[in-house]
Amino acid sequence: MNNELIFITSLSSLEADSPVLVKASDKWFIVVRSNGKTHVYDGVCPHLDFPLTPKTTIVTDCTIICKAHFGSFNSVTGESLKPQITPNRLSRLHPIILGNDVFIKKNVNPQ
Ligand code: FES
Repeated sequence: MNNELIFITSLSSLEADSPVLVKASDKWFIVVRSNGKTHVYDGVCPHLDFPLTPKTTIVTDCTIICKAHFGSFNSVTGESLKPQITPNRLSRLHPIILGNDVFIKKNVNPQ
């Protein structure tokens, strides 16, 4: 496989509208498949750069909640559900789908 890509997960492991935390290349990512689209977010809370891991994060079907200050984010759009949290959204990464596999590019800054 092209070494400029990081394998994140397989599409077949994702249930629709059910976000998951995935560790890849020593980093955590949030992945959700909704309405046929796959969304990948950096596993870092945008509030104070707190790592979003299984121990620090509450994941429900529609929200990602950071346990540090209970900032909550829409799991599909990444937008903050609490206006006082700034920056107001999770950092989005562009997924690359090759067959059944989801990748992101290495060394690309989240948006
Ligand atoms: S660091 Fe996540 S809500 Fe403050």
